[in-house]
Amino acid sequence: MKLFLDTANIDEIRRGAELGVVSGVTTNPSLAAKEGIGGSAGYRAAVQEIADIIDGPISVEVVSADAAGMIAEGRDIAEWIPNPWVKIPSTEEGFKAISVLARDGIQVNQTLVFSVNQALLGANAGSTVVSPFVGRLDDIGQDGMELVRDMVAVYREQSVETLVMAASIRGARHCVAAAAAGAHIATVPYNVLTQMIKHPLTDAGLARFLQDWQQASGG
Ligand code: E4P
Repeated sequence: MKLFLDTANIDEIRRGAELGVVSGVTTNPSLAAKEGIGGSAGYRAAVQEIADIIDGPISVEVVSADAAGMIAEGRDIAEWIPNPWVKIPSTEEGFKAISVLARDGIQVNQTLVFSVNQALLGANAGSTVVSPFVGRLDDIGQDGMELVRDMVAVYREQSVETLVMAASIRGARHCVAAAAAGAHIATVPYNVLTQMIKHPLTDAGLARFLQDWQQASGG
C-alpha cells in the first residue's frame, strides 16, 4: 500500500518527503484554507510548490458544483503540474464531469465516496482512483473500514482497474486496517505518518544499545 500525505502544508510535505516513504499528496479546499491558501492562483502556486517536492500524483480538488464548471476547472488543473489527479466529488454532476475528463485522458480522484455503489459508478465513469472517507463514516457511528474492504472485494471480483485510496484517516491503526483490507493507497495526515514511526520499544531499545556501547567503549 502506497502512502500519500493528506495536507497542503509545505513544511509537512518537505518533512514527509525526507523520509522517502511518501508517493503522492492529496489536498482539498479545507486543507488549502487551513494553510491560508485561497483563490485559483494561490491554489495553483501552492500545488506547483508541492509538485516540486513530491515526484508523484498530486490531488487537486475542483470547487464548482456543476459539471461544466468541474470540467473547465479539471482541464485547467491538468495543465498546472506534471502529474495531477483532479478531485471530483461523487455527485450526479461529478459523474458527468468524471466521464468527460477521463475521456480527455485526465486522471481523476473521485472524492467524498461513502458507498460501494458510488465506487462502482466511478469505475464505469473512468475514475483513476476512488477515495472512501473512512474517518467521516466512523464519526457518524458506521464502520468506515468495512466500506474499504467491500470496495476492494467488489473491484477484485469485477476485475476493476480503478485504485482504492483510503482517505479521512484518523490514526495509525487505520493504516494497518486499510493495508489489510487491500487498499492500494492510504492518504494520511502528517501526524499519522509520524505515529506510524513511533514505538516505545524502539526508543527504549535504541537508548539501551547506545548506553551499552558507551559503557563498552569506556565512555
Ligand atoms: C482525501 O482526499 C481528503 O482530503 C481527506 O482525507 C479528508 O479527510 P478528513 O475527513 O480528515 O477531512
